[in-house]
Amino acid sequence: MTAPPPSRPAPHRAAVLTGVGGCLPPTAVSNDELAARLDSSDAWIRSRTGIRQRYFASPGTATSDLAVGAGARALKSSGTPDVDAVLLATTTPDRPCPATAPAVAARLGLTGTAAFDVSAVCTGFVYALATAAGLIATCAADRVLVIGAETFSTLLDPDDRSTSVIFGDGAGAVVLRAGDAEEPGALGPFDLGSDGGREDLITVAAGGSRQRLSGVAPKSADRYFAMAGKDVFRHAVQRMSASARAVLARAGWEPGDVDHLVGHQANLRITNHVADEVGIPRARCFSNIADVGNTAAASIPLALDQAHADGVLRAGGRVLLTAFGGGLTWGSTVLTWPELDRP
Ligand code: UT7
Repeated sequence: MTAPPPSRPAPHRAAVLTGVGGCLPPTAVSNDELAARLDSSDAWIRSRTGIRQRYFASPGTATSDLAVGAGARALKSSGTPDVDAVLLATTTPDRPCPATAPAVAARLGLTGTAAFDVSAVCTGFVYALATAAGLIATCAADRVLVIGAETFSTLLDPDDRSTSVIFGDGAGAVVLRAGDAEEPGALGPFDLGSDGGREDLITVAAGGSRQRLSGVAPKSADRYFAMAGKDVFRHAVQRMSASARAVLARAGWEPGDVDHLVGHQANLRITNHVADEVGIPRARCFSNIADVGNTAAASIPLALDQAHADGVLRAGGRVLLTAFGGGLTWGSTVLTWPELDRP
C-alpha cells in the first residue's frame, strides 16, 4: 500500500536568521566638523542626504577590528559561538592579500572554519547572504556568520566634498542556521544582478592589476574612491526598485505586505524614492543614515541591528532588504523577522 501524498510540499532546507550584531568606531564626526574644511554646510548635507553624523575609525583601527566586534555580538545574540563558515562582505579589506575573513574567524575563535571575503561594494552583504544561504541549502554548512564591515574613510579623498560627507565606517553581522523555508527568519527568495558596463560610475582606479602600484606613482586621485553621484543616484533608485519588485513577485508578496523596507542606506532621498517606486509607504522604511552615514557593505546589517535593538523589528514583521552598489551590482531578499532576544 502506498502512503497518501502529503497535503503540502515538504519544507525546504533554508537559511534562517538567528542572531544579529553591530559595531561602530568610538568617534562620531558631525556635519559641522566636515563642513569646516570642505566648502559645505550642515544644512546642505542634511537636506541632500539625510546624514547628521558618521563614524570614522582612527588610524590603527582596521576593518577586521570592526568585523570582529560585530561578529562577536551576532554570535552572542545567536546563543552559540560555533559556525561552519565566516563570510565577510567588504570593499576595504585589511590588505589586498590575503582575504580578511580568515583573520576575523581566527580572532573569533573559529580557526578551522571556511572563511572568505565577498566583494560587491554596497551590495556585498546581500551577495554574502545569498552565498551563505547556498552553503546551507547544499549542506556545506549548518551555521554561517555573515559580516558586512567597512573602514570606508580610508578610501575617501579628503578634498572631495561629494564623497567625504556621505560615507562612514562600521560593521554589522548576522548568524544564519539551517532550518526550513516555512519558519520565521528564513531568507529568500533572492534577486541578484550586475552591470559591469557601468563599472566606471564607482571606482578606486589604482592598486589592482589594471593600474598597478608597483614601480608607478599613481595620480593621488586614482588612489581614492570616486563616484559619479548624479548617475549613481539614478541607477540606485532604478535598480533597487526593480530588484525589490522582482523579489516580491518571487516571494508572492504584495508591496502592501512589507512591514519594513530595510534598504542600503545610500542616501535618504534614494530610499524614499525606492519606497515610492515600489509602492511601500515611506513610514515603513527603516533608516539610520542620519546617525551612521553610508557604511557600504555594513549598511544593511547595521540597520538590522539598530532596528532590532530599538524594537522596530519585531517577531512576525515582514522585511524586505534591497541594496545597490559599485560594479554595478544590486540584490534583494525577504524574510519574516524571527523571535530574537534584544540586547
Ligand atoms: O552607496 C551606493 C553608492 N552611492 C550612492 O548611492 C550615492 C548616490 N548619489 C548621491 O547620493 C548624490 O548624488 C550626492 C549626495 C553625492 C550629491 O547630491 P546631488 O543632489 O546629486 O548633488 P549634485 O552632485 O547634483 O550637486 C549639486 C550641487 C553642485 O553644485 P553646482 O554645480 O550646482 O553649483 C555640487 O558642486 O551641490 C554641490 N555639492 C555640494 N555642496 C555642498 C556637491 N557636494 C556638496 C557638498 N556640500 N558636500
